[in-house]
Amino acid sequence: MWANREPFLEILNSELNMIGDMQPEDIAGDYKEVTLDLYNSVNRKILYTDIETPYPDGKLIVSTTDPEGNITNVNKSFIEMSGYSEDELIGAPHSILRHPDMPPAAFKDLWDTVKKGDKWQGFVKNIRKDGGYYWVKATVIPNIRNGKLAGYTSVRRKPSRTNIDACSKLYPTMF
Ligand SMILES: Cc1cc2nc3c(=O)[nH]c(=O)nc-3n(C[C@H](O)[C@H](O)[C@H](O)COP(=O)(O)O)c2cc1C
Repeated sequence: MWANREPFLEILNSELNMIGDMQPEDIAGDYKEVTLDLYNSVNRKILYTDIETPYPDGKLIVSTTDPEGNITNVNKSFIEMSGYSEDELIGAPHSILRHPDMPPAAFKDLWDTVKKGDKWQGFVKNIRKDGGYYWVKATVIPNIRNGKLAGYTSVRRKPSRTNIDACSKLYPTMF
């Protein structure tokens, strides 16, 4: 019954701005599996490897979102580092990059800060479509237009190896 439901589910997911499970055929290398409980009870199966893509020198990774955190714009470096196409990214929630090693408290702090109208800075480990990861030093700012919140912008820079090492030790203690 209802044998060919995949195309239907794909459309439904994109209409609802949801992100589907990560797919084994997209993953490069040996991977582990975990199901993450994302915001508003969306579950996502994450397939992750221990392969790091180092942040490229001299590049900024930039994205903008609507007030809910759904992606509205990405630059070329964002597309290259995440491994997703522009079409897959636009309209998706930013948690498409959510890595299981990131403590939820970091994102709570991010949202509490930007919702107050303040700037947030922090080190974030992001997951790529191929299951690998990359560290960024992120700055997130609210975009206010005519006194109203229009959305958010995140600009990411290359983090130092010292900071990456410190966060790799600290974050597991924050769960
Ligand atoms: C402008 C902006 C940029 C963000 N960038 C990232 C990001 O690069 N990686 C990430 O995991 N979350 C990012 N977030 C936070 C996500 O919206 C989300 O809170 C996080 O991935 C945790 O998922 P959850 O809130 O569904 O639990 C960003 C949020 C905003 C507003």
